[in-house]
This record gives sequence, C-alpha cells and structure tokens, in this order.
Amino acid sequence: MSAKGRGAESVESDFYATPKWATEAILRTMPGWLKRHSILDNRQGAISFERKVRILEPCAGKGAIADVLRKWYPLAEIHAVELDRKRFELLESAGSCDRVWCGDFAEWLGDGQPYDLILSNPPFTIAMSIIERTLPLIHPNGGRAVHLLRQAILASNERAPFWKRTPAQQNILPRRPSFAASLKCGEKKKCGWTRIQELAAARPDVCIGCGGKVACTTSDSADYAWFVFGQEIEREWRILDIDRTAA
Ligand SMILES: C[S@@+](CC[C@H](N)C(=O)[O-])C[C@H]1O[C@@H](n2cnc3c(N)ncnc32)[C@H](O)[C@@H]1O
Repeated sequence: MSAKGRGAESVESDFYATPKWATEAILRTMPGWLKRHSILDNRQGAISFERKVRILEPCAGKGAIADVLRKWYPLAEIHAVELDRKRFELLESAGSCDRVWCGDFAEWLGDGQPYDLILSNPPFTIAMSIIERTLPLIHPNGGRAVHLLRQAILASNERAPFWKRTPAQQNILPRRPSFAASLKCGEKKKCGWTRIQELAAARPDVCIGCGGKVACTTSDSADYAWFVFGQEIEREWRILDIDRTAA
C-alpha cells in the first residue's frame, strides 16, 4: 500500500513498484516447504512433490514482486492479475508468471483452486477489499496471504471490526521503502508545483511551474509492514531482517 502526498499529482492508477529488498525480506520468513516444493530435486532431476506450489499476485503492476517470486520459486505455478492494460502487457511479456489476467481483482474468478502463497502491495484506496478478497483463496493446508501495508491501516474505527476478528502477523520493515519520487518546486519562493512519479522515470531538470530549481525526495512518509494471514497465523508482530546494502 503506497503513500500519496496531499495535493500532489500522483502516479497513474496507484502504481508504485515494490523494492526487491522489501519482497526478499518477507520471503526469507516463509515456510521452508514452499521453496523445497518449488525447486528441482537434484537427485531425481524432477519435482519431488505431488503438486506444484501455487502463487498469486493480485495487483501485479509490471511485475516487481512477481519477478522476485519467480527467482525464489522457479517451478511454482505463478498467477497474476493487473487492472491496467499497459502494465498487464509489460507483465505478460516479462514472462515471470505462468498465467496473467487483465482486469479488476474484485471481479476475478481465477480457476477455483486455492493458493499456497498470495503476495501483494495493493493500492491504498482498495487495500482492505483486496485483503478480504484474498482470504478465501488461501490454501487450507498451510497457505498464506501476505500484503504490504502501511502500519496505520490498523488504526481506524471503520476497520477495527475486521482487525478484531482476523488475526494477522505484522512483519515490520525497519527501513521505509522508496516507492516513488516526490518532486516539488525547489525555489525559496515556491510556485506550488508538485508531482509524484515512478522512481525510475526521468525527472525534469527544472520546475515545471516556474522553470526554477526542483527538489526531490524518494523516502516514503509512512511505516510499512507485511501483514500475513492464514489458518495457523496468530496476532503478533516482529521486525524483519533486511539487506542493508540493497538499494
Ligand atoms: C502499488 S502498485 C504495486 C504493483 C506491483 N505489485 C509492484 O510491486 O510493482 C498496485 C497495482 O495494482 C493495480 N491495481 C489497482 N487496482 C486494481 C484492481 N482492482 N485489480 C487489480 N489490480 C489493480 C495498479 O494498476 C497497480 O499496478
């Protein structure tokens, strides 16, 4: 779930790519059987289990999370959904998923089978509905749904009934992820121009409003945690180990 500055233009359709280090931090805590069942058995040269591990990314963007999932779980069956047509096409051509759907996850029917792992960084505005929609898709035999959310999502009268009835394990990122570049007029006498754009997108050399200097920040103003849901999950929190050298 990604933050937006008030009064700023935001990235189209709430697109913010998740940094690899943040995804890897939570994957390191996932049950070992997920990995064991997604790699070749060296002795037999074949998959050493009865069925493939099934993974879903319900708001996949251009595939920042899906790419990491493919590296960690090479033989898993990875499915993804993305609303935006252009991003869907990029995701599909990147080839990290076995099946990709273009459409609204709220209306997505899938193939009727549950998932061992569901992992997403849903847009802020629809995070709760995405979470609720993924819970019935969790495989009853040890499956998990894992969502990257602002920790502030817990503090709300409206959302309190959900959090009271649904245990979740909060895995706190000790470092704030950079999801976007926040640009604004950098002149002493500010003209008021602001823009939030993708981290990787080219940045203007001058303020679009007045032609003066541009100020840029890439750190997010919110604290984040991966919230894990599943049958054996209890309400608890812990701090994740992260790769401090990763960009
Ligand atoms: C915060 S971005 C995360 C993208 C990707 N997971 C990543 O980390 O790079 C959220 C993505 O959800 C997509 N999205 C928004 N509403 C959606 C919906 N109802 N169903 C499916 N995807 C949706 C947006 O188009 C955007 O690409």
